Amino acid sequence: MIVRPESDRLVIDAPSKVNLHLEILGKRSDGYHELETLMVSISLCDTLEFRELPSGTTLRCSDPSVGEGDDNLVMRAVHLTRQESGCQRGIAIDLTKRIPVAAGLAGGSSDAAATLAGLNQLWDLQWSHERLAELASRLGSDIPFFFDTPAAICRGRGEKVTPCPMGTTLHLVVIAPKSGLSTKAVYQQLQVPAVTTSVEPIRLALEKGDAETVATMLHNRLEDVSLRLNPEVAELKRRAATWPCLGHLMSGSGSAYFAICHSFEQAQDLGAALQSQDLGSVFVVRSSH
Ligand code: C5P
Repeated sequence: MIVRPESDRLVIDAPSKVNLHLEILGKRSDGYHELETLMVSISLCDTLEFRELPSGTTLRCSDPSVGEGDDNLVMRAVHLTRQESGCQRGIAIDLTKRIPVAAGLAGGSSDAAATLAGLNQLWDLQWSHERLAELASRLGSDIPFFFDTPAAICRGRGEKVTPCPMGTTLHLVVIAPKSGLSTKAVYQQLQVPAVTTSVEPIRLALEKGDAETVATMLHNRLEDVSLRLNPEVAELKRRAATWPCLGHLMSGSGSAYFAICHSFEQAQDLGAALQSQDLGSVFVVRSSH
């Protein structure tokens, strides 16, 4: 995330992510799944602006379909921060949404991470990276990752984060179909695989900066379920076979789909071609902090 202190407010760009690898290792007794995933943050961002108020909490969101109440992960992050710190200073948060919701891009999760980081700074809480990541894990499985961007392997239910060196910038096109997918619904339909795929080869290729090899090793165990639940994702996968790119995959539990390109120019050309096909929202992005 990028934090920009200004005279009367704090502005944070909260990135989204894609999963280059996602494997399910088992089902846990608490209902969650044990997983191993390689996540990379990308330049498609929401923006949060924090301003001090005499008292209370307000959240305003640019997207009318996103709730501004206590269910919003941003509000949950504010409440958790108040509870843990005892701080009762007022805060106004303006959230500019660009990351599609229910897309497997972790937009809400990143907004929550940005809120924890923003309040830590504004209220001078001096919480460590470990403390922030622990609080983040209480709010959602893929929130701690956003304190270890741009690339990390996440294990457990997603909260055990090991940062990965990245030897290159990836150029991608991300397409979010009109209909999303519920993460919970996807996990409910999932069968734990008998044989699993290791994250190590793709991690190594990413470290070496070998985008071609990364793109040939893309793997997402949730994809088959999501394709069955959402015909728009199935259609994207069918069409992607003809796209000029290095490789393609669904992100997270979907419904967003991405292609890795060998250059910014190839990503721009592919993005422009897809814009005209009425597939959903198209974003030309790169891996980011
Ligand atoms: O942790 P989070 O609230 O983001 O997870 C949303 C839902 O996704 C959970 O309620 C659970 O059904 C499913 N999930 C899972 N295993 C994980 C992460 C999420 O089954 N590792």
